[in-house]
Amino acid sequence: MKKTSNQRKKNTSHRQSRGGRSGARMNPSAKNRSAKPVAPKPKPVKAKRSPSATSSEHTQVIQWYPGHMTKTKRRIEKDLKLVDAVAEIIDARIPISSRNPDIARLTAGKPRIVLLNKCDMADPRATAQWVSFLSRENVRAIPVDCKSGRGVDRFVPVLTEMLRERIESYKAKGMVNPSMRVMIVGIPNVGKSTFINRISKKTKANAADRPGVTRGNQWFTVSKGFEMLDTPGVLWPKFDDQTVGEHLAFTGAIKSEVMDTELLAIRLLDLLKELHTPEFEERYQLTREDLALPSYELLEKIARNRGMLISGGEADTERAAYTLLDEFRAAKLGRITLEKP
Ligand code: G4P
Repeated sequence: MKKTSNQRKKNTSHRQSRGGRSGARMNPSAKNRSAKPVAPKPKPVKAKRSPSATSSEHTQVIQWYPGHMTKTKRRIEKDLKLVDAVAEIIDARIPISSRNPDIARLTAGKPRIVLLNKCDMADPRATAQWVSFLSRENVRAIPVDCKSGRGVDRFVPVLTEMLRERIESYKAKGMVNPSMRVMIVGIPNVGKSTFINRISKKTKANAADRPGVTRGNQWFTVSKGFEMLDTPGVLWPKFDDQTVGEHLAFTGAIKSEVMDTELLAIRLLDLLKELHTPEFEERYQLTREDLALPSYELLEKIARNRGMLISGGEADTERAAYTLLDEFRAAKLGRITLEKP
């Protein structure tokens, strides 16, 4: 009997879910059915496939053109001369993956403050652990929720404390009310525009679901004595590790259209099964037995429990996958931190 494309896709995903770690498969033709595109659109290079890999192993890893970053790095290096400190915004749910590892090196020598943004969607205990971890590394970190504004009012006092010596030395040189300048950096979608809108009273940056809006050299007055410089260019996330790519895709920091949505959902289920958040289990009415199922079968179960069926009464796993990812991104499955210190 001829199989429908949906059945073929489902069967492939099924094999992959049982075949261990499934890769972020390049699927440029896949349609993004999520409510909104949430990510930058870097040009993916050809997926890397190990010479020995078979078609069902899907061990591809997404890579980005290395040239993408050169311009931004140069701008950062140039603009660093203009600022007294750097504020790096990262996603509290994925503090490792949402961090561009070049930042620490690029900004070495400048006082750096880290904003653990979107903490409203992260596990509060894990966020507290990250704050202590970073403080042990001599990095001041503040958990913030730029959407509601929670925590944002700590930014200026913490920065003032960090820059006290510098402010005093400017004053000693005769400067009255010296203005401190801070550069904001972060990968796309971490909330830079939202933060700038919050802190700079006047709305100048546009929060958006795509990068580029925050591009350009713009100064914002934060408060008396503080000015902020918007990110000097688009700072792409950097990943050559499959887990990092997956975490960025789970949170919507990179476009899910370059990934196979069902595979992505299966990988997310692998993690959710371990985390046992009541919101996840209650939302999809999952029993203890359900949680012991292989992830593809669990996705089928979620589809059935949600009444997502295709002709013949089969579970519409593709639709369930989109729903799962959308609901995870909206924190409807609980406040979840995927990366612990
Ligand atoms: P960027 O400049 O770094 O690229 O990020 P941007 O501010 O555009 O924020 C990306 C998305 O993240 C936006 O959602 C924004 O509302 C959301 N966001 C930013 N900070 C927080 C936060 O602390 N908590 C939560 N829950 N969300 C946050 P969007 O859906 O793309 O846009 P919109 O519908 O909110 O306008």
